[in-house]
Amino acid sequence: MTDSHFFLNHVPPMGIYETLYAFRDTFGRFMGEKDTHPWSQGFPLTTPLEKFGGPELPGSVEVDWEDRFYPKAWGHPKLREAIVEYYNSQYGSTIAPENVMVFAGGRPGIFTVMAFLKSHVKVRIGNIEWPAYLDILTQTDTEYETVPFTKENNFHPNNAEYFDRQGVDEGTGLMPVISNPQNPSGQTRSGEELRELIEMAEQPGNGILLDEAYEMFHSPSVSGIEFVNDLDNCNIFLSGACTKGLQSPGIRIGWIIAANSNIEIMANYSSFGMGGVSHPSQHYAVKLLEPGRVKKARQAVEAHYNWQRERYGKAFEEMGLGVYTGNGGFYHWLELPKGMTSHELNKRLFKEGAAILCAFDCDMARPHSKDPSYKSPYERFFRFSFGPLLPETFDSDIQLFREVYEEYRRDVGVE
Ligand SMILES: Cc1ncc(COP(=O)(O)O)c(C=O)c1O
Repeated sequence: MTDSHFFLNHVPPMGIYETLYAFRDTFGRFMGEKDTHPWSQGFPLTTPLEKFGGPELPGSVEVDWEDRFYPKAWGHPKLREAIVEYYNSQYGSTIAPENVMVFAGGRPGIFTVMAFLKSHVKVRIGNIEWPAYLDILTQTDTEYETVPFTKENNFHPNNAEYFDRQGVDEGTGLMPVISNPQNPSGQTRSGEELRELIEMAEQPGNGILLDEAYEMFHSPSVSGIEFVNDLDNCNIFLSGACTKGLQSPGIRIGWIIAANSNIEIMANYSSFGMGGVSHPSQHYAVKLLEPGRVKKARQAVEAHYNWQRERYGKAFEEMGLGVYTGNGGFYHWLELPKGMTSHELNKRLFKEGAAILCAFDCDMARPHSKDPSYKSPYERFFRFSFGPLLPETFDSDIQLFREVYEEYRRDVGVE
């Protein structure tokens, strides 16, 4: 059968998945299986962070007859309450359950916001960002422009660049999409800088989708909600999830915090397009967010990942890589010396059961469909994930990386 026989339009998988498939083709096994080194992967450890007093993760949830009812379109009342309590106690905000919409993970929430943007709203997005945004923006037909991320601005442009109205038609809504802490660079807006960002986003005609998947991976943990003045009258969308800090990507729970009116629209969509989210998963999330537990989890996540970020960063610097990582997240943002490319490095790593994420996949200015004539400015950059790595594999992970890197360096004659 030819492609033209089938009714669905072709869509490629997210860039990270392409790396996974290419890895399997070389190594013969899936990334994540025994003897593989998942440095390309964006998941956290899903076991307790014992070294730093991390709590147990819940082992089960109860399901009763009411759980077999259809879920509420906007989320289980207990989970909405738990999310509200979580933000208001940690960040001094005053959000209500009506400001929360529960989704099956972070991605569906982000996809939904983009799918329902009015046509006068334009997205501004960093030249490097989380690969899935490019797929989401393309598939939802969202208009977007990139904001420069360069060595010169340390991969951390000013807030004002996201809201620059030069050459923008009157009446255009501006909607930055920013992951904070950022995937892939770990660059983080906090304190005064985050206050300014939120203040700009609250201005009429502006908005923001601030993706806080890595909220806990910073000292202290960071959320724009702390600085929002009047949530119900603005176009601020905060995205959160149990995926990273709560160490549970597999339970598929995420949420959007926004103005009540915008939440209603998403709930209406849920009523015909989603049917709500699994009750057992929502109960599990309530357990994760239990106040005593979440406090310990937050401290352990912060301490464990700060420690990993620091020691991996030091090791990469010693090898002569450019390290441009900010102080959040669980990725390093690295540059190879001139004469080398991250694509070639990856081909060599695949043979050893390892992989990194080439920066090409994070390049939001690249054409979404493959175009061999496009040359990314980030050819020498890559993202190294220490999210899924156990403390005890540090030496062996660094040794393996160093061996492959140094052999490649010698082969191309880089001093
Ligand atoms: C920036 C960013 N946002 C959101 C997510 C959450 O994705 P999900 O909960 O759909 O797995 C991720 C996960 O990789 C991410 O890196």
